[in-house]
Amino acid sequence: MVSNPTVQTPKRRAVLAGTGSFLPEKTLTNEDLTKIVDTNDEWITTRTGIKTRHVVSEGETTATMAAEAARRALADAGMEPEELELIILATITPEMVFPSTACFVQDMIGAKNAWAFDLSAACSGFVYGLSIAQQFVSSSQYKNAMVIGAETLTRITNYEDRASCILFGDGAGAAIVKSANEGSHGIMYSTSFSDGSGWTSLNCTAYGSRNPASKPLEDPSMVYMNINGREVYQTAVRRIVELVNECLEKCELSIDDIAMFIPHQMNARIIESVGKRLKFSDDRIFINIDKFGNTSAASIPIALDDCRSQGLLKTGDIILLVAFGGGLTWGANVLQI
Ligand code: UT7
Repeated sequence: MVSNPTVQTPKRRAVLAGTGSFLPEKTLTNEDLTKIVDTNDEWITTRTGIKTRHVVSEGETTATMAAEAARRALADAGMEPEELELIILATITPEMVFPSTACFVQDMIGAKNAWAFDLSAACSGFVYGLSIAQQFVSSSQYKNAMVIGAETLTRITNYEDRASCILFGDGAGAAIVKSANEGSHGIMYSTSFSDGSGWTSLNCTAYGSRNPASKPLEDPSMVYMNINGREVYQTAVRRIVELVNECLEKCELSIDDIAMFIPHQMNARIIESVGKRLKFSDDRIFINIDKFGNTSAASIPIALDDCRSQGLLKTGDIILLVAFGGGLTWGANVLQI
């Protein structure tokens, strides 16, 4: 497979200017799930690392959460909404078929000078989005861009399938990158991959052009996410290890140069297995899946914001964002804070 790497020459850089996140107030604990399906806290904790997840309430949607995360990222960056030039919103649970969720968010936050579009790459949506933002911003075509990952996965979760319903939660995270001439700071490298032949491993097949709403579904569960967990698990570990090795090689870095590894929060066991193979020390692997579950495209920006809020990152730190998900898709970004 050929990579499409973007090693930045140091003229302009897409520098991280702010982050924000939003999690709905309502939670769904492992204990709550035992009342819905045949499961238990011990199984969920040992197999996934998840303890609880946040769940949208009536009136909360992908766009409302994304807009709040966006406002918080703007405040963190010290920017007015009118200054934003581009909004890329990654989601597999959009507000509606069209218009894009990004356009709803643009309106909600008053970013009237930004153009906005959605990106569909499942759990890799945020790293794909950051890679696109990097191109526009480091080329100076735009002065800034906001990348948002936002999901209401609980609205496409099958609460009759105990193997998948324990995994997913809702939430949104956002990051703003600005064009700057700041030496080595900013996004150093992005890499992205797809393998459409693996689509059967992770999907939600109802109500696209293949199975339109105008025709009865073959199986009512087609409106929900369908995952082949074991298959995804094994491929994810392999691909994430490959991604990390590629990033280190292209950026001429060693594992010890990475201050924080912030992977897609898919399953704590997957992350730990990757960490062990790559010999990352535990204090440099960020895991918050215990609090939020798997939030697909939202998981990395939520984790990045959480990591910054906990004061775990300092100026000059090099961080590595890595994702794997439906498509199949996978990708990574290396950036210096
Ligand atoms: O972000 C992208 C989307 N995420 C994924 O695709 C997730 C990737 N995969 C995973 O995280 C893991 O594969 C799962 C958490 C989904 C499943 O863990 P596993 O270790 O692969 O378990 P398994 O599916 O092999 O099931 C092991 C056993 C089975 O029982 P038997 O056949 O061994 O008797 C299942 O029936 O665990 C049983 N089981 C459960 N038991 C209690 C499955 N789900 C549950 C449950 N509670 N919720």
